[in-house]
Amino acid sequence: MKVLITGGAGFIGSHLAEKLLSDGHKVLVIDNYQTGRRDNLKPHKNLEIVEGSIADKSLVNKTFEAFLPDNVVHAAASYKDPNNWEEDAYTNILGTLNVTLAAKRLEIKRIIYFQTALCYGLKPIEQPITLSHPINSNGSSYAISKTAGEQYIELSGLDFISFRLANAYGPRNLSGPLPTFYHRLTTDKPCFIMDTRRDFIFIDDLTDVVIKAIYGEGKKGYYHISSGSDYSIKQLFDETLHALNIKLDKEVEVRPRSPDDVFTILIDPAKTNKDFNWKVKTPLKTGVKKAIEWYQQHGITQTYTHLKPVEAK
Ligand SMILES: NC(=O)c1ccc[n+]([C@@H]2O[C@H](COP(=O)([O-])OP(=O)(O)OC[C@H]3O[C@@H](n4cnc5c(N)ncnc54)[C@H](O)[C@@H]3O)[C@@H](O)[C@H]2O)c1
Repeated sequence: MKVLITGGAGFIGSHLAEKLLSDGHKVLVIDNYQTGRRDNLKPHKNLEIVEGSIADKSLVNKTFEAFLPDNVVHAAASYKDPNNWEEDAYTNILGTLNVTLAAKRLEIKRIIYFQTALCYGLKPIEQPITLSHPINSNGSSYAISKTAGEQYIELSGLDFISFRLANAYGPRNLSGPLPTFYHRLTTDKPCFIMDTRRDFIFIDDLTDVVIKAIYGEGKKGYYHISSGSDYSIKQLFDETLHALNIKLDKEVEVRPRSPDDVFTILIDPAKTNKDFNWKVKTPLKTGVKKAIEWYQQHGITQTYTHLKPVEAK
């Protein structure tokens, strides 16, 4: 099988690329390294990397026509500057259109998309959030543009699966609280935590179910990938301290959340559990330990977030 992965040098994309290569498939990655890392992908005889942006229509068309993928995993996304709406629109809307239209023209089998749970808005009306929760993505440029991308994919008529994700974490993850805690704790910077709760999903558990979808399991449409349990950010922080064997002199500062942040995101994985015969296996403690080991081996120079800094409000 030939799989084209946009954003394949990023956290989720590179884990999928690695698994597909180890299963004997051919993989083509297109990435502009906005938030991806070159060392996330080791050279492999069945791996081709195209450096460039999915917003570049002729590059996307040329790449698709030369590779002729069977399946597409669309993991590229822009989110690192919450004020750069243009870049979010170029990548997440126009880039998604370029990828979707090329996929449609070449009659690929299936396209996989990853959607942010922020598509359910800043004040979800149920917990856990089910797939029938109304879409209300007006809280951030990231959510607006990712939702437009998701809707264009549905509009294309392609066989698609859009996975709406809890907070994914693990080796190579550079966004969200865990890499930030690691970075600050190991560079002697003060830490604070938000009074929020999140549903965390470890990358190996996420990869397991996405690979099943690439192999044809599951039905066209929407699924959640989540553990179905939420943890306080304090619990995550404490697991990070534990994995780093650090004892703080005084309790960490807990700050109220920013207006574009959600108190808890608890997502119902029932349909995914059933259709893919899948469930989460990795306890938070084990996942945090593996992520920290990766940070220690590979270092972090940058972390990313789609949230506006609290001070800038
Ligand atoms: N990690 C999570 O918790 C989470 C949650 C919800 C949704 N998602 C979605 O999952 C997908 C993968 O996210 P991730 O966590 O691996 O992030 P990531 O930043 O590690 O990966 C995104 C990749 O896309 C690349 N990219 C950005 N703009 C591009 C462009 N114009 N052209 C080509 N490549 C481009 C980046 O360089 C990076 O390698 C994204 O679509 C994201 O919106 C992630």
